[in-house]
Amino acid sequence: MITHNRKKLLVTGILIMIGCWGCRFYFDTTRESFISKKIPPSFERGMILVYTICAGCHFDHTSSKFSGKSLNDLPAIAGHLYSANLTHAATYGRPDKYTDAELFYLLKRGIAKNGRFMPYMMKPMMADEDINDIIVYLRSNDAALTADDTNPGKTRINLIGKMGIRFLMRPTPYNKGVARPDENNPVAYGRYLVGIIGCYHCHSRKATGLDFFHPENTKGYLQGGIKLKDSKGKRIYAPNLTPDKETGIGNYTMQGFRDAVRKGISPSEVVLSPPMGKFDKLTDKQVDAIYAYLQSLPPVKHGVSPHVE
Ligand code: HEC
Ligand code: HEC
Repeated sequence: MITHNRKKLLVTGILIMIGCWGCRFYFDTTRESFISKKIPPSFERGMILVYTICAGCHFDHTSSKFSGKSLNDLPAIAGHLYSANLTHAATYGRPDKYTDAELFYLLKRGIAKNGRFMPYMMKPMMADEDINDIIVYLRSNDAALTADDTNPGKTRINLIGKMGIRFLMRPTPYNKGVARPDENNPVAYGRYLVGIIGCYHCHSRKATGLDFFHPENTKGYLQGGIKLKDSKGKRIYAPNLTPDKETGIGNYTMQGFRDAVRKGISPSEVVLSPPMGKFDKLTDKQVDAIYAYLQSLPPVKHGVSPHVE
């Protein structure tokens, strides 16, 4: 009887090992030597990008700096996430321990300098010049980056979480050499911004169908429905951003859209709740490009009530 159970255990163990063969958690790192270039206005452009893309996870409103914080993105069963401290703090500041090439690689592939996969930073379609500008900003002495040597907390992702992340996402190929879109073509620029800011990570139908390389191939792209958590941990669903007049943003005016995206106030005067961000650093040109792009999508009828269980 005992040997029978042992055999079962052994077989299960071997099966788990075979199952895990494909789910590596550590990956190749970079040996490149890339040095960021400060060519005006790279600081200003980098600042807009960092406030727009990274702040939702890394900006701490108590210190008013990029000191990192606790995030409630993962289901508790998978572990707990803390973002990193991005200030020039000697002990806990992370970017100063990275070379420019390692930061570049982290932002393209989501692979940290020790090889750990961090899918939240994976932006394969981000233009090389924009990553350059992000690095220029992170190296600067902007007030929000001056040293705040506090520990945001240590991420714990258990095996269930790791398997889940690896099942849903894997590092994309190293996509170097991406050029900026034509910023005078609003639809092309808007498409690019929706991709690198990651509006579609929340505003599509299913978080399990995200396509980082070809965002449009994401399941139910921008049609709304993904279940998220608000700041109190309550359920909230991201709405439909296609131009359907009844269930999407077909009735939004340009000004209404600017206020929703930058101030977090919808045309019907509803204060939008987190995790929807206030993208207040985006320029008129950028918000208007996003608006033009969203209005160019085929309208899809899909009613989503953000606060209904
Ligand atoms: C969706 C949330 C999210 C977004 C958006 C995000 N990060 Fe992070 N970031 C994290 C988390 C969580 C960690 C810590 C991961 C861990 O400890 O496993 C992290 C870690 C880091 C680290 C430290 C890596 C290390 O070796 O410890 C750096 C540097 C970083 N992020 C930079 C950025 C920059 C720059 C941006 C914007 C371009 C950004 N992040 C956007 C969540 C995010
Ligand atoms: C982290 C998830 C998340 C991201 C990223 C995100 N949103 Fe949202 N968004 C939400 C949620 C949740 C709501 C619903 C808020 C509410 O009703 O209280 C929302 C609401 C909105 C609304 C109001 C829609 C309506 O029905 O009136 C607009 C417009 C919008 N988002 C645009 C954007 C744009 C543009 C981006 C990218 C620049 C973006 N969002 C990124 C989660 C997100």
